[in-house]
Amino acid sequence: MTTRALHVRTYRTGALGLPVVLLHGFPFDSRMWDDVGPLLTGAGPVLAVDLPGLGESSDPSSSEASLDIAADQVAAALGDLGIRRAVVAGLSMGGYVALALLDRHPGLVAGLGLLDTKSTVDDPGARANRLRLADEVEDSGTVAAVRPMAAAVLGETSRAAQSDLERRLEALIDEQPPAGVAWSQRAMAARPDRTEVLTRFAGPALVLVGDEDRVTPRATAEHMASSLSDVRLVVVPRAGHLSAIENPGAVADAVAELVRRADLRETGARPT
Ligand code: MLT
Repeated sequence: MTTRALHVRTYRTGALGLPVVLLHGFPFDSRMWDDVGPLLTGAGPVLAVDLPGLGESSDPSSSEASLDIAADQVAAALGDLGIRRAVVAGLSMGGYVALALLDRHPGLVAGLGLLDTKSTVDDPGARANRLRLADEVEDSGTVAAVRPMAAAVLGETSRAAQSDLERRLEALIDEQPPAGVAWSQRAMAARPDRTEVLTRFAGPALVLVGDEDRVTPRATAEHMASSLSDVRLVVVPRAGHLSAIENPGAVADAVAELVRRADLRETGARPT
């Protein structure tokens, strides 16, 4: 019996269109997509993956902390499901993994969604902070050190008008295994600049950013968009860094439009 390293959540089954694969942000799991997944229109399956060590996926601590490993595990999990080509959309850390997937498994990516993320590396201070937090989480055996992210990722509008969202994010964070949280921080700290990977991608792309995102603001989205050849840049109103839960309708519309563009491209490419 094969044991899958990564847990895959299914929002919709379907065989007539490209699969959509959603990759979540940190320190959450695939449930971060619960408001968007069911809204996605199209004819293919809609799936969301728990990245290594988070949600129901297995503990990656015995392997080097690297988003390359995360990307290889996503490709393997999709391969197990018979998926060789998909629209891949990642939010923040999920975007870093989507970029690693594009770099290492380019044939898999029929359409690319980069949401509230960036293609560049952290500055030395941010990297040191990640490593400090990883040690703190590991030493304490709790995720308390990353709990404040629940408030930090939300935009001003959500914090003022949707106080339930902060509680919901805290509950999600509290359920993450400390080993997976520490591994993810170290993996993000080690990631390379992948802007150049974007210049090699000729397929349809979406770059999306919440207009109140303070973690990866609009300038980082514009930087990625300027490196892509077939791109739509979408700025989501009334959303911060977690646009997928702050304004899920707008995010679902933008991802569905990416899927339509990718489906058209695939159909056009098919020999008649
Ligand atoms: C996320 O939302 O995934 C995080 O903000 C990513 C990061 O820490 O860079």
